[in-house]
Amino acid sequence: MTVLVTGAAGFIGAHVVRALLGRGQRVIGIDNLNTYYDPALKHARLARLIGPHPDFRFVVGDFADQAALAAAVAGARLGGIVHLGAQAGVRHSIDAPRDYGRSNLVGQLELLELARQQRVAHLVYASSSSVYGDTARLPFNAEDRADHPVSLYAATKKAGELMAESYAHLYRVPMTGLRFFTVYGPWGRPDMALWRFTERVLAGVPLPLYNHGKLKRDFTYIDDITAGILAALDRPPADDGQPKPGGSLSPHALYNLGNDQPVEVMELVERIGAACGLAPLIEPLPMQAGDVTATWADITPARRDLGYAPATPLALGVPRFVEWYRGYSAGGIDESPAVAQHPRP
Ligand SMILES: NC(=O)c1ccc[n+]([C@@H]2O[C@H](COP(=O)([O-])OP(=O)(O)OC[C@H]3O[C@@H](n4cnc5c(N)ncnc54)[C@H](O)[C@@H]3O)[C@@H](O)[C@H]2O)c1
Repeated sequence: MTVLVTGAAGFIGAHVVRALLGRGQRVIGIDNLNTYYDPALKHARLARLIGPHPDFRFVVGDFADQAALAAAVAGARLGGIVHLGAQAGVRHSIDAPRDYGRSNLVGQLELLELARQQRVAHLVYASSSSVYGDTARLPFNAEDRADHPVSLYAATKKAGELMAESYAHLYRVPMTGLRFFTVYGPWGRPDMALWRFTERVLAGVPLPLYNHGKLKRDFTYIDDITAGILAALDRPPADDGQPKPGGSLSPHALYNLGNDQPVEVMELVERIGAACGLAPLIEPLPMQAGDVTATWADITPARRDLGYAPATPLALGVPRFVEWYRGYSAGGIDESPAVAQHPRP
């Protein structure tokens, strides 16, 4: 079966493409390689993580552009879609709201239309822990209401879930929305705390610690997230009229993919310092607009239905990231580009 992965040059997308190819699936990837962060990193993910592979077709294009998306999948019969492309980042949504409207709203619509036209067996799409806002009780449960986003990014992710619900209801296309919780690891995003802090610790520059470090995040390691995405893709929700996680009576399930281990951002800083062998310099700052004070995933439904079992504590994940980061920033990553070759299923 051919799987379309959007945001294929992104952090999570590149890992998912690699994992799908590794288990012998054909993949079409689309990404517009935008400049939200250095596109050299996106090219490096594609070149070094994925490399030339006979089962991988990569197309540079905007999935919010109907014609570009149609051209990307021309001639292919899609078995599934993993829609990970988006304008990510809470803070950027304050400066560049239209990027979110285009990629996260128009883009979500185009992927839903494609899923409907091709009658795909399953559309898995990325949502976010940010939909819970700052007032939800902890741990966050997909059954809780999430109607009070504190950033436009969160609002577009929630809107994406509602749009998916309407398509699952009208057209009965099986869909799964995955609310990711602060994903980190090798080949990660330069706008996220782990990268920015590591960069500053190694440079001996003070790192900004919002809300004076009194923020809690359910940091989740990329390999655990990737395994969760593949497990979800393999298990389309049934169209049986029974309530699904998140409450839908249509074939549409919502799951949290987190680590179920919220930690203070200060602990992250200490672990980075230990992995770098340096004492971090800290600049305490007030809370930022759009931020939430704590995230914590209730992953009981994902454990039960998907066999999701996050296995990487911060104590393991942070040193792995720091080691990768040192190699990448020195230009010395020499990872085997092509994943293992498997016969097609
Ligand atoms: N990383 C996290 O901690 C996290 C947490 C919650 C949710 N998410 C969601 O997971 C998904 C993947 O996130 P990521 O961390 O890999 O982000 P990322 O920015 O690294 O990847 C997203 C990719 O999508 C591409 N893209 C954006 N708009 C596009 C468009 N219109 N057409 C084509 N390509 C486009 C970008 O170029 C980028 O490569 C996103 O939907 C994000 O909102 C991520």
